[in-house]
Amino acid sequence: MGKELSILQKHRAGYQPKLPDALKSGNIKVEFGEPSHPATHQEEIERLFPRSYGQPVVRIVEGEGGLTTEPLKVGVVLSGGQAPGGHNVIAGLFDALKAACKDSRLFGFLKGPKGVITGKYVEITAEMIDEYRNTGGFDMIMSGRDKIERPEDFKACRDNFHEMDLDGLVIVGGDDSNTNAAMLAEYLQGQRSKTSIIGVPKTIDGDMKNELIEASFGFDTACKVFSELIGNIARDATSAVKYWHFIRLMGRSASHVTLECALLTHPNIALISEEVQANGTTLEEIVDYIADVIVKRAQEGCNYGVLLVPEGLPEFISDIKAMIDELSTLLARDEDYIKGLSDHSERAQYITGELGDASAKVYNSLPVEIQEVLMKRDAHGNVPLSQVETEKLLIDLVQDKIRYIKAHDGKKFVKFSPLNHFFGYEGRCAAPTNFDADYTYSLGYAAAQLVRANLTGYTAMVQNMTKQSDQWVAGGVPVTMMLNVETRKGQEVPVIKKALVDLEGGPFKKFAESREDWALNDEYTFPGPIQYFGPSEIADRTTETLALEKGC
Ligand code: FBP
Repeated sequence: MGKELSILQKHRAGYQPKLPDALKSGNIKVEFGEPSHPATHQEEIERLFPRSYGQPVVRIVEGEGGLTTEPLKVGVVLSGGQAPGGHNVIAGLFDALKAACKDSRLFGFLKGPKGVITGKYVEITAEMIDEYRNTGGFDMIMSGRDKIERPEDFKACRDNFHEMDLDGLVIVGGDDSNTNAAMLAEYLQGQRSKTSIIGVPKTIDGDMKNELIEASFGFDTACKVFSELIGNIARDATSAVKYWHFIRLMGRSASHVTLECALLTHPNIALISEEVQANGTTLEEIVDYIADVIVKRAQEGCNYGVLLVPEGLPEFISDIKAMIDELSTLLARDEDYIKGLSDHSERAQYITGELGDASAKVYNSLPVEIQEVLMKRDAHGNVPLSQVETEKLLIDLVQDKIRYIKAHDGKKFVKFSPLNHFFGYEGRCAAPTNFDADYTYSLGYAAAQLVRANLTGYTAMVQNMTKQSDQWVAGGVPVTMMLNVETRKGQEVPVIKKALVDLEGGPFKKFAESREDWALNDEYTFPGPIQYFGPSEIADRTTETLALEKGC
């Protein structure tokens, strides 16, 4: 017996994602632009990627020629955190390969990059695809955070591809995974392997974007899920009139998710990490600002409110960031030794003894749970910030401050009853919005054309996305064009530059001009649940961020 489907799932399975006009026509070709260069570190990047450096941006347009109609064998792998639309990338890839040649075959590597290294895969069939069309999650082939980085990993990939006679591999991932895709592409070219490597820009964090890649997929759906919940909480806050809700939102580094949710819901306070960093704001100043809004609202009889805090905030507060960087260097050197110490107090004692005075002081000021999380790193050298309960830390510090204010400033009327929330996993696997369903299907479709064109070291792109989907333009961006050199785990490495919130950009400006009003007045908006059916104005709507960035 098959799995029982919900009524929405049954209807949603029949949704046909919309494609750009050029991809819809069976008659397509790849158009090549000018040679490309990264914005910085050109010499280093050229030295590291001698074979793929300088490739042109390509666009897929209507026209004759160049794309093979021979049967192809293509692999696909999902890498890193889940993002709504992953299954539609696979569906788009599958449909495009089959449309070009019915004998082409698609293989899904299991549980992320590790499946590529160890050669664990399944053949993706039409039945599998139909089961997963327009669904959230990555469960069709699962994901993982392993990295293809050691020489033996690269060799294992080459051997597996050779054995499978693979023409292409599509890596669905964020900045780190697309960087990895470029490295693998470069290595395979050096080995005269025929397997081309194409990346697809994924992450709910919304930070894999640039002047060519307009958005990463999954951001729209995740933000809409979080915003529905934030709106519901705001409604509860104005009904119960007694709680302050401190809501932390996912987004490892950039604050795009928080900014987008703020634009959709108008909370009383939204902290934007990039602004905190630009102003050199300390943790104490953040706490003062929050307490000030709480007191001002209390003066008006409003002892409730909604605050949004981005998950990435700790790394943008200057003294905490300096401590995390020092700690990363220390861990790169002594991680095994530190892990071998028997308990937290021994680890903390060793770490504070090795850190400089300022960083040791910051480290010691944090709760034990946060100290422990800060000792962890993933395969890409990132701190697992989703485990740092910044909203609880802020509540503790604000509580102390309000206590002080009540005792010393005669403001006994202030009542502060905080509740904490964290939204991340609630949104990462939601069924994709029409926008994400269309975008991801188009990305998969485009990736297939890039493989058919025998291109390698590219990330698939779709542009013009504030317009109707038939006017979207698909193509590919050379990964080397997006690289810069950064320090990771104490070493200089090439990585795709994460796009942080632009404080001069439309989305932040709109927020900045409204926030004082939102702080003191109840200007909450209630976006409600994602609409999968109905008027295009609501069902196909993209993000406020993209619309404001494009001046719409
Ligand atoms: P990706 O960048 O891999 O898409 O992951 C994004 C993310 O959802 C972050 O927002 C979050 O910090 C992280 O994944 C959490 O991942 P995990 O559950 O593996 O710790």
